[in-house]
Amino acid sequence: MVNFNLSEDSVAWDTPKRQPPGPEGLPVLGNTLSCIRQPMDFFEELREYGDVVRCKFPKIRAVTLFHPEHIEDVLITDQDDYRRWNFDELRAIVGNDFAPEGLAFNEGDQWRNQRHLLQPMFGLDRLRGYADAMVESTERTVETWDDGEVVTLNHEFSDLTLEVLTHSLFDLDVREHGAVVPRAAEALNDRARMQGFGLVELLLPSWIPTPGNNRYRETMNAFDETVGRQIAKRRANPSDYDDLLARMLSTESDAGYTLSDSEIHDQMLTFLFAGHETTATALTFTWLLLATHPEKRDQLETEVEDVLDGSLPSPADLEDLTYTGHVIKEALRLYPPAAMLFRETIADTELGKYTIPEGTKILLPQFVVHSDERWYIDPEQFRPERWKEETGPDRPEYAYFPFGGGRHNCIGMRFAMMELKHIVPIIAQRVDFEVLSDPDPAVQMEMTLQPTEDIQTRVHKR
Ligand code: HEM
Repeated sequence: MVNFNLSEDSVAWDTPKRQPPGPEGLPVLGNTLSCIRQPMDFFEELREYGDVVRCKFPKIRAVTLFHPEHIEDVLITDQDDYRRWNFDELRAIVGNDFAPEGLAFNEGDQWRNQRHLLQPMFGLDRLRGYADAMVESTERTVETWDDGEVVTLNHEFSDLTLEVLTHSLFDLDVREHGAVVPRAAEALNDRARMQGFGLVELLLPSWIPTPGNNRYRETMNAFDETVGRQIAKRRANPSDYDDLLARMLSTESDAGYTLSDSEIHDQMLTFLFAGHETTATALTFTWLLLATHPEKRDQLETEVEDVLDGSLPSPADLEDLTYTGHVIKEALRLYPPAAMLFRETIADTELGKYTIPEGTKILLPQFVVHSDERWYIDPEQFRPERWKEETGPDRPEYAYFPFGGGRHNCIGMRFAMMELKHIVPIIAQRVDFEVLSDPDPAVQMEMTLQPTEDIQTRVHKR
């Protein structure tokens, strides 16, 4: 494991002339305070300095990239020259013993073997089996809403996506199993929020104390016990189960690799961490945008009526729900749940006209790149039809990367898209939302991109 507590000297660029431009900031602290206080504004403002921008922090040397071609270099073309964000620091957010063997937290042979084994489980054929759970959970959620009731959209969708995920992952009904899984999910989110998305840990010297949390540990212990019990049940009666957990226990890759119990445990935690709030965020902003753009909502409704004719969606309908797909795609453009990707150079590397030294942190801010007017007409506008109209070679591929790219791209992308394309039409058939809170709320980076205030809506049943 690489040690990132770099000294001042090792952080410095060896040749000042070759440094990419960037804001000077304060003596010693450089850009630290503005980045921690208002990270969204800070990265928006960095764009003014060019496509490769240097940031000044006492602990790390960092560069932010704004051009899709450089992003493609990092994620795809030269991906061997980079590794993901340092795991020690990520663990500082979620706990040192958090899922060390989870797909999102390891590299090298173990990661390669796991990815190879798990990838087929996220293929479309396998995912179709989860569609019923997606539909059932959505129907149940919609039924709990009364006409005229005020609901907090982000909370409702967080509960719904958690229910779908736990059903599909380990056939566990979150409503019956106490609150172990929701509590674990909430604890992870609280933890990330408390640590300011890791920026505090990442940017400030380690002698500044950051909050510990005993309750977090207790919650995670309860989660560990639940997963352990579920593994034991499946080992005892394998034929009774056909969920992702059962598959992970029984599958051997063609290279003869099988997952140990601890690897499986860590995947469960990883999927919960990576798959819950991301999808909830996507759903929340999709419906906020639809509720505040009635003409787009009408267009969606027309398509849903044409394709589904009042019945519930199934995997066979998804391809015909084109406009629905564009709505979701556009929401992910304007509000990319992952917001920012992190890499680190493992060798001296060329980016544009700059040589970036080994050990430099590379930041890829999706939320800024997705709204660059070089690639999007009226980028601030919610225009789902742009995905039909604005085609052609003018927009580089990595001007849009909500699910990342390259070898570490999102393994759950199809799961998430299938889920969203089932949930959005069912809600469109049943209710309208009247937005009572700020229709254009400010957002902040937590574990995922989040509105700074809850999104309150009044439900109108159709
Ligand atoms: C709208 C929903 C989602 C979004 C926007 C999203 C976004 C992303 C992004 C951007 C990455 C790449 C991170 C990087 O390169 O550093 C990623 C990786 C990952 N995602 Fe997702 N994700 C979503 C849903 C899901 C779901 C539903 C699951 C699981 C059920 C999942 C599991 C993972 C895992 C395990 C990785 C790490 C993959 C690896 O390193 O091999 N994600 N996701």
